[in-house]
Amino acid sequence: MIELLRKRRSIRKFQDKSIELEKIKILKEAALRAPTSRNIMPWEFIFVTDKNILKKLSEAKQHGSAFVAGAALAVVVCADTTKSDVWVEDCSIASIILQLTGLEMELGSCWVQIRNRKHNESESAEEYIQRLLGIPEHFAVESIIALGYPAEEKEPIPHSSLPLEKIHSERF
Ligand SMILES: Cc1cc2nc3c(=O)[nH]c(=O)nc-3n(C[C@H](O)[C@H](O)[C@H](O)COP(=O)(O)O)c2cc1C
Repeated sequence: MIELLRKRRSIRKFQDKSIELEKIKILKEAALRAPTSRNIMPWEFIFVTDKNILKKLSEAKQHGSAFVAGAALAVVVCADTTKSDVWVEDCSIASIILQLTGLEMELGSCWVQIRNRKHNESESAEEYIQRLLGIPEHFAVESIIALGYPAEEKEPIPHSSLPLEKIHSERF
């Protein structure tokens, strides 16, 4: 795991190459194996590979989502908020598990924040995606995880750049 984490970076440029069905199947399994509070599993995952829908998802926000148009796959992570009061944590864990499982299979990825973000002055990014994908109102949209074969290389963060002062021993 530490080797994966050492090379993990956000990838926003993707090759024009689809992801094999076997890999998509593994990503689905990984998402469903994410731990959740009290094992409630409030999340649901929408796997999108249709280019037209990817383009529309890329317009969810004015900043920070455009690259979804070039991804081979976007996984929209949402949750039934009536089932759990810690769905944010559950969705976040599933999101990072999707990213790390992708990385292990040579796929690059980047998280697109949807919760608490705007589509425009009159609509939230969440409402825009609910409307686009037919997600019920009581489901909140946490993130979009955009994945694909990388078309950019990023240097791993060197150990010497880690903010070691953020680690405390015994007391703050
Ligand atoms: C909760 C969260 C939300 C993020 N939202 C976005 C986003 O909306 N758009 C984007 O381009 N990157 C987004 N990112 C990626 C971060 O910008 C990126 O992880 C950070 O700059 C560190 O870079 P690295 O992942 O390459 O180490 C998000 C990451 C996290 C963890």
